[in-house]
Amino acid sequence: MFFRVNARAQIFSKALKRVITLPFSIRERGRPAKIMKKLIPGLMICLSALPAWGADPVWLQGMTPERHEITVYRSASCGCCKGWIDHLETHHFVVTDVTVDDVNRFKQQFDVPTEAASCHTAIVEGIVIEGHVPAQDIKRLLAAPGEVRLLTVPAMPSGTPGMDTAGAPRDPFRVFAVDNNNQVEVFQTYADY
Ligand code: CU
Ligand code: CU
Repeated sequence: MFFRVNARAQIFSKALKRVITLPFSIRERGRPAKIMKKLIPGLMICLSALPAWGADPVWLQGMTPERHEITVYRSASCGCCKGWIDHLETHHFVVTDVTVDDVNRFKQQFDVPTEAASCHTAIVEGIVIEGHVPAQDIKRLLAAPGEVRLLTVPAMPSGTPGMDTAGAPRDPFRVFAVDNNNQVEVFQTYADY
């Protein structure tokens, strides 16, 4: 199902409120300060999760031999980003890991809407991957990319690959696809995994 361009923020907002609980308003876009404000709780979890990272077996399922080159832009201090990179490599992605001082610069450059933002931003075969998107979903998209320009798991839901520390809650979350006309659809839903 597709949504109108001008309803994009609302769709993200509504879907996010249903799927994960965020303490901040996520209606406005294009303000790096807001992105950081939204991400602070996730970043705290991200940093505290660093020493105990261990892959949830659920994210080891469905591996395919296909190899794709992907470039990841992330903050050097981000442990959950590294966890996600490990997950990609386990799924045979060839990762170029780029640590940067200001990840928001790349989010703006690649036109990631504020309401879609997470910690890291990646590019694979011209498609932007934002946040802790499971490798399986990236490969499903790459098999038939169509008009999709961005795949995102906004914020940093607990339980996603890289946010799957031992004993971490498996929060329900959604993967959103944004096409070249900035229409948004739900690409995948993880409600019980
Ligand atoms: Cu993260
Ligand atoms: Cu990250």
